[in-house]
Amino acid sequence: MAFELEALPYAADALEPHIDRETMEIHHDRHHQAYIDNLNKAIAGTDAENASLEDILKNVSNYSPAVRNNGGGHFNHRLFWSVLGPNGGGAPTGELAQAIDDAFGSFDELKKKLQEAGATRFGSGWSWLIVGEDGKLAVTSTPNQDNPLMDVADVKGTPILGIDVWEHAYYLKYQNKRPAYLEAIFNVVNWDAVAQNYASAK
Ligand SMILES: [Fe+2]
Repeated sequence: MAFELEALPYAADALEPHIDRETMEIHHDRHHQAYIDNLNKAIAGTDAENASLEDILKNVSNYSPAVRNNGGGHFNHRLFWSVLGPNGGGAPTGELAQAIDDAFGSFDELKKKLQEAGATRFGSGWSWLIVGEDGKLAVTSTPNQDNPLMDVADVKGTPILGIDVWEHAYYLKYQNKRPAYLEAIFNVVNWDAVAQNYASAK
């Protein structure tokens, strides 16, 4: 069964001024679509056609580089759109807030770690908040379209928040200033969505 691009769960200009409409349109309609098209091409006629995206990623070392890059690209962007929103920002509450305090000391410390992980990722990649194999929250980063679900990841776990640090995510508005993008994006993180991901991952 072929993978398909879902519509954004909000308007393309809903995250302005932090993420501009043009970036969102190009990012979702062209980049994410291309990952899906290339993933479908890469799995056509193989066993992976009948596997879930999660199962493909967990065993990604058995597949071609095209499946790794585009399967990761599809999963990562699907998560990314879902953890952003026009009513985002602020700080997490409830069980997630407690788990963040336990793991990092404070929400500010978590934010700093996510920003550092994104800013120091050379080239393209992602900064992640994950539930690790020990059940605890951790921050990690991966290159390209890898993610912590993959058997090839250095630090494995279930991603509950991903921040895209590819230039295509910020270049039109922020040019080379990745740290400025990594500051602005916290105004549109949907912590309720992250909390739901946490509840299902732990
Ligand atoms: Fe992206």
